[in-house]
Amino acid sequence: MTQIRTNILTTPINFVPNDADASGRSFGEDEIRMLREVLERGVLISQYGKVVPRLENAFAAWCDVPHCTAVSSGTAALHTAIAAVDPQPGDEFISSPITDMGAIMPVFYQGAIPIFADVDPITCNVTAETIAARISSRTKAIIVTHLFGLPCDMDPIMALAKKHGIMVIEDAAQGFGATYKGRKVGTIGDVGCFSLQQGKHITCGEGGFVVTRDAELARFMKLYHDKGWGFGDAQPDHEFLGLNYRMTELQGAVAMAQLPKLDEFVAKRRELAARLTQRLSRIDGIICPPDHEDCTHVYWRYSIRVVEPLTAADLDRMSNALRSIGARTAPRYTQKLAFEYGFIKNRKMFGNSGFPFNAHTRSRGAELMYDRSRYPGAVNGLDHLLCIGWNERYDESVVDLIATTILRSLKGDLQ
Ligand SMILES: Cc1ncc(COP(=O)(O)O)c(C=O)c1O
Repeated sequence: MTQIRTNILTTPINFVPNDADASGRSFGEDEIRMLREVLERGVLISQYGKVVPRLENAFAAWCDVPHCTAVSSGTAALHTAIAAVDPQPGDEFISSPITDMGAIMPVFYQGAIPIFADVDPITCNVTAETIAARISSRTKAIIVTHLFGLPCDMDPIMALAKKHGIMVIEDAAQGFGATYKGRKVGTIGDVGCFSLQQGKHITCGEGGFVVTRDAELARFMKLYHDKGWGFGDAQPDHEFLGLNYRMTELQGAVAMAQLPKLDEFVAKRRELAARLTQRLSRIDGIICPPDHEDCTHVYWRYSIRVVEPLTAADLDRMSNALRSIGARTAPRYTQKLAFEYGFIKNRKMFGNSGFPFNAHTRSRGAELMYDRSRYPGAVNGLDHLLCIGWNERYDESVVDLIATTILRSLKGDLQ
């Protein structure tokens, strides 16, 4: 925990815990003991190891689902889930234009096309209405991102998917422990994906999970992450195209030591966020992230919406002031919408073949809607968004410092 108790505004920078290093991560004796046990056993590969299978069982139990496969990253988790949908070349996945590329790139790798749904400008999450506007005869699945740890409104999304007979993949990389009407995100759709990358709620540097209630999907994903190999079968075969996305026992050891702390981390993040919300809600022009019983936020980041009478310059002023006290900020988060990144704009994939866009049997072009004018919610959402790094190792003094810094920057005391 931070030791800072003095007048923070005059204290030098770098005392706000940061998830990019030890100050904002909780590694201790348990992680070291688990790592030592793995090394002493000498089995680093999960196929013959003990820790990753235990971790998979423990995470499945934490989710209250029957099946979990641990993988090497959140991107690997999403790729594994997307492959399990088994798209034909040119099939469509509806996703959010505000997300990590780990949820988009695997769609292309599977020869499919991401189609983007607009978002609610306040939550920056996709909704059943925005998704419905993008469904076509080629839609195979929906990927919902629970952005910053705030659940999407899942009931109408699930009803829509059911009506069209399409699958739902939940990207819960930022959403460990967030609940929607009492259910953990990642367990509501057909497959849930999680990331254990350095900055997530729990971490082993890189890693991830896919979870599902469906035994067939579970078997596919178990094989897919191991080159399509039926490991443990009487007569194993490479049954289909797959990759090596196996988690190592070393990653598993750290993740296994982190998992028992997860509920405590989530509770702490929520408690600290409630304090900031209470402090900021009095400021005209700042809208704090929604959090209520039916839709609990787990604050991977604390995102505020900055509106009139505050201006874009105020947003930047707040961001700079927060950085000056060592807090991490991301004004306007990704800034770009997903389809505005170079690799999509310039079709930098599969040589100069044009694949998978040329496998797309819709008329190609306008219907892709890769144009920001089609995303008023997302453009508005990002324009007004200030993301603030959040961490279970903050304490009340750090939260108060963040609140005071925001207030003082708005008063013009700080630049
Ligand atoms: C929403 C979201 N999806 C997917 C990913 C990809 O996860 P990873 O970086 O572990 O590959 C991340 C994180 O980085 C993420 O935040």
